Amino acid sequence: MILKSKLPNVGTTIFTVMSAMAKEHRAINLSQGFPNFDCPTKLKSLVAHYMKEGYNQYAPMQGVPALTKSISKKVNKFYKKKLDPSKEITITAGATQAIYCAITALIHPEDEVIVIEPAYDSYKPAIDLCGAYAIPYSLKGPDYSIDWKEFHHLFSRNTRMIIINNPHNPTGKVFSEDDMLQLQKITQGTNILVLSDEVYEHLIFEGAKHQSILKFPELYQRSISTFSFGKTFHNTGWKMGYFIAPPEITAEIRKVHQFNVFSVNTPVQHAIAEFSSDLQFFQDLPNFYQEKRDFFLNKMEKSRFQPIESSGTYFQLFDYSQISDLNDVEFSKWLLKEHKVATIPISPFRSKLVDEKVVRVCFAKTEDILKKAANKLCKV
Ligand SMILES: Cc1ncc(COP(=O)(O)O)c(C=O)c1O
Repeated sequence: MILKSKLPNVGTTIFTVMSAMAKEHRAINLSQGFPNFDCPTKLKSLVAHYMKEGYNQYAPMQGVPALTKSISKKVNKFYKKKLDPSKEITITAGATQAIYCAITALIHPEDEVIVIEPAYDSYKPAIDLCGAYAIPYSLKGPDYSIDWKEFHHLFSRNTRMIIINNPHNPTGKVFSEDDMLQLQKITQGTNILVLSDEVYEHLIFEGAKHQSILKFPELYQRSISTFSFGKTFHNTGWKMGYFIAPPEITAEIRKVHQFNVFSVNTPVQHAIAEFSSDLQFFQDLPNFYQEKRDFFLNKMEKSRFQPIESSGTYFQLFDYSQISDLNDVEFSKWLLKEHKVATIPISPFRSKLVDEKVVRVCFAKTEDILKKAANKLCKV
């Protein structure tokens, strides 16, 4: 039998490779982006409660009304945006499924989608499957800011979508209000959609305010924003998320969503709805993660790794150019084998090789692990 791959260039991801190596070499795993601590006990009890009470059958396609309503309340509080929960909010199996549905519903063969690189790895395969083209815009370190004039030069007759991720994985860059206004300006009067991946909306430091696309009325009209409960509630394994978009855009994406999963976990939706009624948890998150970042940076002070400013997400980049001439993939593997700490090289987040001599660590870990990892890294 001859199989013709639709994704011939997709292989084993660098996350799988590094995690497998971390296991094999008994290394501390700071590579993959998930916490090593548990989600709130109250949230777990609520899931058990709703299961026991019999909330175990299919949820409505767009999500349980209690949850979409609670999201709309939260959005109004944080971003001063009033939404119609039944027409503008859809619950998905993590942000990844929302992203996949949005791209496949809205992108046609030959369309061009501008992807800001380094980029989260699920965007490009979804674009490829549509027979469309991912057009990279390359962020340059150590600042990773966007030159909007340069960015605008990428526009063509076929540009159909821009994907922006804010706060940004893997760099920890937070795009500002001015960035969003520039994005608004260059897309005005065009037929270009903006997919705004905001899974780290609450992981933002130094008292900065997240500039959600939901805060910009004109941008909102052409937007789809995606969110992840996994990142917010420390339960990435639950794979729960949602997207927000104006009614006409939502209707198109739901056409794919309903035949992709139809609906997602009913008791978990009820539990999250109840848990989210108290906004304090969201308000405490920035400090919770900033403390972890600062704890780790403090322990790393005596190392030869140079930190690159992380203003959001739970990732921290380090420049290792004072330590080695190896490229980032080789360096990460060497570091893991020799010093027993797994990091992630960032070149696999780009379509073209850029040898930046930078690796990413995830600091969503308990202090004992961060301390142990820093001790090892200080000896490099
Ligand atoms: C930028 C970005 N978008 C989306 C996701 C996926 O979120 P979820 O686990 O809810 O699918 C991740 C997870 O690492 C991410 O870093």
